[in-house]
Amino acid sequence: MVSIKGSRPVFSSPTRKRNQNCFSLVRLKISEIKEFLKKNLSRDRYIHTLSLRKLAIRLAKHHGLGLKDICRVELAALLHDCHKKLEEDNHSFLAAKFVKKNFGITDRKILSAIEHHTYGHRNMSKLSKIIYLADISEPKRLFKEAKHIRKLAFADIDKAMAAALSTKMRYVLYEKKQLSLESVILYNKILRNSIK
Ligand SMILES: [Fe+2]
Ligand SMILES: [Fe+2]
Repeated sequence: MVSIKGSRPVFSSPTRKRNQNCFSLVRLKISEIKEFLKKNLSRDRYIHTLSLRKLAIRLAKHHGLGLKDICRVELAALLHDCHKKLEEDNHSFLAAKFVKKNFGITDRKILSAIEHHTYGHRNMSKLSKIIYLADISEPKRLFKEAKHIRKLAFADIDKAMAAALSTKMRYVLYEKKQLSLESVILYNKILRNSIK
């Protein structure tokens, strides 16, 4: 379990109410989690994480998520890439395990959002989709489709998911790697729903 000396349930991030909700999900201050990340992530990964967090919270508010879900979004955003073996294809699952073991986070919505941020999942929640979209399109992402996906994420989450999944799958095919079955199933499901 990550323990930081002298930690108290006094919070430094935007609203006290939101932080009280966060405290029921993880017994650490957001500033303490950031301190841990700063020490353990590369500089680029840390910058990506903070940028993703900002976009994910904006998306969560924009799409009407409640206070507790906004806290979940914030925690999933901060911790989604916290595992050291980031180059591994299953790093999102390793990160979820790490978060459970070391931060004591057992909330299913947070763990699923972390698990699904790389490939998606056929039954993804809105909260998980927000993390997936923020991960692929946060402003530090410089590939050409990122801006379009980011814009679409505010207008229509599922259209943005279809655009994000097809961008990622095109890249995977270009790299001659295997497609994730979950990504394909989710993509087909969104397409089917859009023509109903
Ligand atoms: Fe990741
Ligand atoms: Fe990431």
